[in-house]
Amino acid sequence: MYCKKKGEYNASVSAYFFPLLEEHGIPTHFIRMTDPSTMIVRKLTMIPLEVIVRNRAAGSIVKRYPFEEGAILDPPVIVIDYKDDSRHDPMLNDDLILALHLVTRSELRRIKEMAIAINALLVRFFDSIGITLVDFKIEFGKAGESLYLGDEISMDSMRLWDMTTGESLDKDVYRFDKGDVMEAYERVAKRIQATVKGGGQ
Ligand code: TYD
Repeated sequence: MYCKKKGEYNASVSAYFFPLLEEHGIPTHFIRMTDPSTMIVRKLTMIPLEVIVRNRAAGSIVKRYPFEEGAILDPPVIVIDYKDDSRHDPMLNDDLILALHLVTRSELRRIKEMAIAINALLVRFFDSIGITLVDFKIEFGKAGESLYLGDEISMDSMRLWDMTTGESLDKDVYRFDKGDVMEAYERVAKRIQATVKGGGQ
C-alpha cells in the first residue's frame, strides 16, 4: 500500500538522525530536505553490504541461533549481509568480504567503527525518549575515496520497543499485525520532534 504519511514519518526521522550523526563526526550523504518526503543527498557509489547492529536478540538471529527473544547483547553484535536478492542476502564474514573485494581491509575496519559509533549515539538518544533500540540496518557508500553513511535511518530499518509497554514501534507492527503501523510511526516521529522543540539533545 502506498502511503505518503508513512514515507514522511520515515523521512523526518532520517532527516533528524543524519545531521545529528554528522555533528558527531560521522560523514553522511544527507544534504537537505526540500519538502517533507524529499531528501537531497550526496551521490554515492553504494557498497552492497547490509550492516546490522544488534543490542537485543530479535528477528532473524532468534530464528537462526539459540538466543531468547529480547536477550541483551553486550557488546552489541554486528552482522554484515551481502546485499544480493538473487542470493537471499547471505551473511558474510571478514574473509568473504575481502575475498569478494567489496571493500578494503581498512574500509571494513572503518565501517565497523562507524557502525559502533552510530549505535552508541542512537542508543543514547532513544534511551532519552523511552525507547529501546533493539537493532538496525545501515548501508555505506563511497564518493571518491571517502566513505559515507547512505540510505536511511527510519522505522523501516530499525527495531524499536517502547521501554514502558514493550510495544513494537517499527515495521514489525505491520509484519506481525501488532496494531496500527501509521500510529506507531507517528508516535516515534512525534517523540523525536518533541526533543527538537524542547531544545534538542
Ligand atoms: P533481521 O532480524 O536480520 O531481519 P528481520 O527483520 O527480517 O527479522 O533484521 C535486523 C534489523 O535490520 C531490523 O531492524 C530490520 C533491519 N533490516 C532491514 O532494514 N533490511 C534488511 O534487509 C534486513 C535483513 C534487516
